[in-house]
Amino acid sequence: MTPKLTAIQRLRIQTRHRVSIENYGYQPQALFWSSQEIQEIRFQKLIEILPQNYFKLGSFEDNQAWSLLDVGCGFADLQRYMLKRGLFSDYSGIDVSADMVRGAKGMAPELNVLEGELSDFDYVTEQFDYVMLSGALNEVVETEVEGLANQQGRYARSVIARMYQLCRYGVAFNLLDRRFAWHETRTDLQSFYPQEIMEYCHSFANQVTLVEGYLENDFTVYLHKPPSGQRG
Ligand SMILES: C[S@@+](CC[C@H](N)C(=O)[O-])C[C@H]1O[C@@H](n2cnc3c(N)ncnc32)[C@H](O)[C@@H]1O
Repeated sequence: MTPKLTAIQRLRIQTRHRVSIENYGYQPQALFWSSQEIQEIRFQKLIEILPQNYFKLGSFEDNQAWSLLDVGCGFADLQRYMLKRGLFSDYSGIDVSADMVRGAKGMAPELNVLEGELSDFDYVTEQFDYVMLSGALNEVVETEVEGLANQQGRYARSVIARMYQLCRYGVAFNLLDRRFAWHETRTDLQSFYPQEIMEYCHSFANQVTLVEGYLENDFTVYLHKPPSGQRG
């Protein structure tokens, strides 16, 4: 089933981001990244899932740009980061914050960026070659206030499974790493043990890769989907 935020959960995320844009403008800090460098280290790990021949196969010249869905795209900085490296894609971004979408469209009106979460769209299985997510599962969704603290991480897990359904070749996402003490002082942030996420992903994906060691508080996971003839 496609995961869905409650009205309160959605409003909480939207409000946080409205305030952060008011405070910082269209800067990585409005996305809760401490700097552009930190944001881009995460992007770099995500795009390393792409095959070596991505540039050639996905170039606009042969009109075969690969499709990419960026979940929680913020200002669509991932698209800009990829373009600067010559990585073209048929890019779509979604973000639950209308303010983020306005910011993204303000900087690049031609971009396909829409307001919403995954369940708001009628995407079909394997609609996108790649599905990526950076930072969009870092905020606590299931809170104590709503009596849902014992379900923490449930929404995040279902988003990951849905992303896998929607990809043709692969998913790359990052999460905050719970193995370090910092999370005890940031109760607004959601973090995970990499091994638990790996086990969860193995329950529906055959090829799961953990990438760590690039930032102290973060890890990335790749889910590779084999061609349909080779699944089983
Ligand atoms: C930390 S920011 C990262 C933005 C962007 N991925 C980047 O790295 O520049 C997280 C973004 O995810 C969005 N977001 C949070 N939860 C979401 C959800 N369930 N569905 C879609 N977007 C979400 C927020 O509004 C915010 O713009």
